[in-house]
Amino acid sequence: MTIELEDIGSNPAPRATIGEIIEARFSRRGTLLSALALAATGTDALAQGAPREGGPSTLTFPELRHQLAQTDAVAQGHKTHVVIRWGDPVLPDAPAFDPRNLTAAAQAMQFGYNNDFIAVLPPQRGAPIADRALLWANHEYTNTNLMFPGMGTNNQARARVTAGQAEAELMAHGGSIVEIERVDGNWRPAAAPRLNRRITGATPMTLSGPAAGHPRMRTSADAAGTRVLGMLNNCAGGTTPWGTVLTCEENFNNYFGGELSDTTQTESHRRYGIVATPGYGWYRHMARFDRAQEPNEANRFGWVVEIDPYDPTSTPIKRTALGRFKHEGATHAIAPDGRVVVYMGDDERFDYVYRFVTARPWDAQNPAANRDLLDEGTLSVAKFETDGSMRWLPLVHGQGPLTAANGFASQADVLIETRRASDLLQATPMDRPEDVETNPTTGVVYVMLTNNTSRTDARVDAANPRPANKHGHVLEIIPPGPDNRREHAADIMRWGLFLRAGKPGLDAGAEYHLATSSEGWLSCPDNCTFDSKGRIWIATDGAPGAAGVADGIYAADTTGPGRALTRLFYQAPTGAEVCGPLMLPDDSALFIAIQHPGEDSGSTFESPSTRWPDFVDGMPPRPSVVVITKTGGGAVGS
Ligand code: FEO
Ligand code: CA
Ligand code: CA
Ligand code: CA
Repeated sequence: MTIELEDIGSNPAPRATIGEIIEARFSRRGTLLSALALAATGTDALAQGAPREGGPSTLTFPELRHQLAQTDAVAQGHKTHVVIRWGDPVLPDAPAFDPRNLTAAAQAMQFGYNNDFIAVLPPQRGAPIADRALLWANHEYTNTNLMFPGMGTNNQARARVTAGQAEAELMAHGGSIVEIERVDGNWRPAAAPRLNRRITGATPMTLSGPAAGHPRMRTSADAAGTRVLGMLNNCAGGTTPWGTVLTCEENFNNYFGGELSDTTQTESHRRYGIVATPGYGWYRHMARFDRAQEPNEANRFGWVVEIDPYDPTSTPIKRTALGRFKHEGATHAIAPDGRVVVYMGDDERFDYVYRFVTARPWDAQNPAANRDLLDEGTLSVAKFETDGSMRWLPLVHGQGPLTAANGFASQADVLIETRRASDLLQATPMDRPEDVETNPTTGVVYVMLTNNTSRTDARVDAANPRPANKHGHVLEIIPPGPDNRREHAADIMRWGLFLRAGKPGLDAGAEYHLATSSEGWLSCPDNCTFDSKGRIWIATDGAPGAAGVADGIYAADTTGPGRALTRLFYQAPTGAEVCGPLMLPDDSALFIAIQHPGEDSGSTFESPSTRWPDFVDGMPPRPSVVVITKTGGGAVGS
């Protein structure tokens, strides 16, 4: 999501000043290129825009050149194919897409807006992916001005939304399950699907875990505090070893408005950026989003939602044990003893990185035993030390400052106010933690820190070393143990920086591999995926504003002589970010979600900055899932 709708940072007194920056940490990394080193080795090639060969990178595709364009582009030797677009049918009775007559009923049966996280799952639980699969896509948010005619630009549109439009937007949120099949090398919606489903902002869901049923979770429509309608702003996500999808509510604050009637919750709402006049005007039409009428409804959003894609009748479950914050994703790793570890980021300036460890191991032989595994375990928040160590601080009621004296009467309070609990534990305030993903080859955990222009000189720390961090960086967390048996449940780990984004030689502190080309630098890392060789594929969000180049996908080795040598592989159409990168296990296809195409300043339904992907007069831009394959077959990127 663009920064316009994201909160500007609600952590009032970040205790980031841990001391001086330990530059030695970076100089130890001989392959990284500091601005100084770049000057010494000559910036001419960079300045002249001549892409170099891949150097020591194992990735051999020819790099693209940075550009801003109405359409997308992929490295030579590869092709793109739109799998499904906003408005395409998901359910059998879905009407044909009619952007001039958008209704809630139609949207509830069609592919929703602004696809973000993507999961591609086997057609049957536990089976391999061959030529048929299940696609999950989040629908994070809506661009009111690009969905409806006559709305003007974005800010104008959100304020003047009608009740009917608000209902349609609600239905355009959530997620989709779509059976897909591979035909002639291209993935497309499958004929005769049995599992297709639309989850929306109104789908009944269960609340489970320690916060379920707590008085602060009760509303006039749900006296028990255990049942909620819908999920909102689902950004990134993950999957579980037992074949369910984890989909995560991010900027939920944008939907709740009006004057808060319960003043005991004023500080809690403030910490999450919930204000009287939010980004969306829904609260004027739907009572549950009006804080004067329903002061607790917002407490029921901001969670990780578990969905069983193999049972279209299953009820999605909000797992409160995983904490309440602006969740980016929730990706899992398995500890050697079989406990499941979920890594998560809270995407806000000066907010935190989290980890959840299940109380029990998962059981591959007994699926029923895993059903509620995510209801019991320990949520922790990350503290990064200057000596290269990091510690997971448990968010457990009764431990340390998390007591009634500080307003935490139970674990439910700790979870409903996860951010305030983490503040008290003095976790490390980060530069907007987006995706946190484990490299399956090395067991090293990668944290995308997208940017933080509010960080001042006085607030820099070793893990967030740049003031006014416009371009972000990528941090590695290294659990103890060998590559194939990392102790993901350990409380003490090591950390380091993988790269510092921005343009080398221009942006202070930008650091990559020495051989990174004039096209290989990136800005605003957001999400990532890994291929079968353990190489990282980084998607960006915000590069046009921060660096004047399109958002895209950059690939790099994570080990060996080509480590951190990022290479430009794909570029999004104007206004769009790239979300949900997902490489199939055999590297035969890279799925990506193109979100908010045309979300440029001044863009309107009538006159959008692009009409990607259809390029048909009168057709607005359409967020779409795209699959990238190698022309003629083979491993993507080779
Ligand atoms: Fe929805 Fe943090 O990106
Ligand atoms: Ca994003
Ligand atoms: Ca994101
Ligand atoms: Ca982002």
